[in-house]
Amino acid sequence: MHPEPVDVENPFQSDMYGNILNIDKNVISLEEEDPIKLREFESRILSGDKIEAKDWMPSLYRKQLIRMIEQHAHSEIIGALPEGTWITRAPGFRRKLALAAKVQDEVGHAQLLYSAAETLGKSRVEMTNDLLSGKSKYSNVFNYPAKTWADVAVIGFLIDGAAIVNQLANSKGSYAPYCRALERICYEESFHLKQGHDNFVYLATGTQQQRDMLQDAVNRWWPHVLTFFGPPEKLSKNSEILMRWKVKMDSNENMRQRFISQYVPKIFEVGITLPDPNLKYNQESGLWEYTEPNWDEFFEVISGNGPCNKERLAVRWWAEDHGGWVRKAISGNIF
Ligand code: COA
Repeated sequence: MHPEPVDVENPFQSDMYGNILNIDKNVISLEEEDPIKLREFESRILSGDKIEAKDWMPSLYRKQLIRMIEQHAHSEIIGALPEGTWITRAPGFRRKLALAAKVQDEVGHAQLLYSAAETLGKSRVEMTNDLLSGKSKYSNVFNYPAKTWADVAVIGFLIDGAAIVNQLANSKGSYAPYCRALERICYEESFHLKQGHDNFVYLATGTQQQRDMLQDAVNRWWPHVLTFFGPPEKLSKNSEILMRWKVKMDSNENMRQRFISQYVPKIFEVGITLPDPNLKYNQESGLWEYTEPNWDEFFEVISGNGPCNKERLAVRWWAEDHGGWVRKAISGNIF
């Protein structure tokens, strides 16, 4: 049986920025915001200024940032799981060391991101509770299994590659604590990408069995990799306001296009194909054409009904249960 979610009043609740609020209850519409402050805020954003935690911000900006940074943090921590299961089975000591270090980095990214979200007034405990209860989302792609060692190569090369495209762009965004975290994360992600690429090329240029294993993993992951960037404009309810406030520096579709144009040639270069007969570069539009991923499946997965959602959350519940004594000990609350 799962333990009760942690008490939000516990001593870990952060108030270091003095802005703990009940985020959901305190959100007001833009029309209700002080118009002068709102105008000043928006002109700061327009001029490329960065917003710090203690600066005035519309409550919707705060809410949206918390939602996005928190989901990102959860994605890092859950994202460590599919690859983490391969540490004990990695082929050879060098690959095992590299994978262990990479997985450890991902958990460190979550730590940085939880801290960035805390600056906006939501405590780590509340975020953990919302992940455990299924209220908060995390990246859809981590709800699929890593069936073979080639899946580790595909995740390391293509998912980390996709993450870099997204995060490099957003590290130039408006909220300074998030940008600082993203800059540091991107440095580490570029090592992950090298590790993934090396693994990918090794399998692609290996035996027929290794090539087949890689091709099979690419075939299974490709549609999910495309969904990583989020749904197209008509289904992306948050993009407009997030782009206006430079939290997201480009649309989901533009980020996806950027990824495709950078990575498809690298995949083809090593003789691996992609499972999409419609994939082609349109010279006239300058865009890639591709088969639309299954967005119904995507929304099912992010609503908790993917192949591994339950398994992923069960691991977090286990950690919550078994790590409770450590949290109590650190807080001086053990007796
Ligand atoms: N996985 C899970 N949920 C996703 C998703 C994905 N790949 N892409 C979109 N969604 C969810 C959104 O969270 C949103 O749901 P919500 O409003 O209930 O939170 C819904 O789908 C509609 O999408 P959209 O309006 O486009 O969301 P968004 O503006 O937040 O854009 C991202 C989605 C992923 C592009 C954006 O949040 C982002 O850049 N996040 C930071 C990077 C990150 O988290 N990377 C993942 C792990 S490395």
